Amino acid sequence: MPAYTASAPGKVILFGEHAVVYGQPAIAVPVLDVQAKAIIRARPTGEGINLIAPEISLHNQYKHLPLDDAIALAIRLTLDQLKVPELPACTLIISSTIPLAAGLGSGAAVSVAIIRAVSRFLGHLLPDETVNKLAFEVEKLHHGTPSGIDNTVITFSKPVYFVKGEPIAMLEIKLPFMLVIGDTGVICPTSVTVRDVRAAYDADPGRYETYFDLCGRIAGKAASSIRDKRNPALGPLMNDNHQVLQQIGVSSPELDTLVDAARNAGALGAKLSGGGRGGNMIALVEPHTAENVAAALREAGAVNTIITTVR
Ligand code: MEV
Repeated sequence: MPAYTASAPGKVILFGEHAVVYGQPAIAVPVLDVQAKAIIRARPTGEGINLIAPEISLHNQYKHLPLDDAIALAIRLTLDQLKVPELPACTLIISSTIPLAAGLGSGAAVSVAIIRAVSRFLGHLLPDETVNKLAFEVEKLHHGTPSGIDNTVITFSKPVYFVKGEPIAMLEIKLPFMLVIGDTGVICPTSVTVRDVRAAYDADPGRYETYFDLCGRIAGKAASSIRDKRNPALGPLMNDNHQVLQQIGVSSPELDTLVDAARNAGALGAKLSGGGRGGNMIALVEPHTAENVAAALREAGAVNTIITTVR
């Protein structure tokens, strides 16, 4: 029996998380060093879809999953899109090296991998635009009011300059640069921070508009720096963005510790990335400081570090 495999990368938000939910621009890049993968294989006997996802201890039949399960929703949306009522008997294995609930886009990457694998299995590989649209629907389940940036950067696997509701704009990285990603090991679902930011915004819209506006302006300056090949300028902009995110209320002692450690070890700048309150931070480094910064992050408590080149 042939097996159909699809994968999707992780991502980091370089600039503009949270503010992007409120219409400000943000920049995200794929992280190819971590991947979600879906493998689907027909079974000659039996019926239904067997689901196996070792990282989340899932071993179940599709039909037994609750309606609000993200994996079940990704499958159902794909079947609906292709107007196929049911899949032939098969086994779908989902695996991922992307840490869960850590701001690296694990949920969106799993959705994209499933949608691609199932559509390939049915002989109708969906175009990226449709994959992106379906993955966005699953994102809504994960965290209510997503901007759509995660599913977009992951589906297209390219850096994006993203503004909610506007046509997708890729951001060409003319001069590659290096990041160190440090994981606090603290799990915090994006749904929690997005909800808390919404509550804080509702309580004081004027103050939060000012914060979001600042984030948007920082993202705009960062995009110009990238376009003009002024990569070192991204460092201070990351520091500025982190400061606003602290004011927004989505940093944490663990994130601040890692951000400080990266800067002290020679990073050009550092900030939290993604939903915050835990998960990952990023630091802009030069090739000769990357290992030092990664070591300093681990020393300061990071449970994992990734050195990656953005291109
Ligand atoms: C999550 O990666 C980024 C957030 O801005 C949420 C979103 O854009 O949907 C926190």
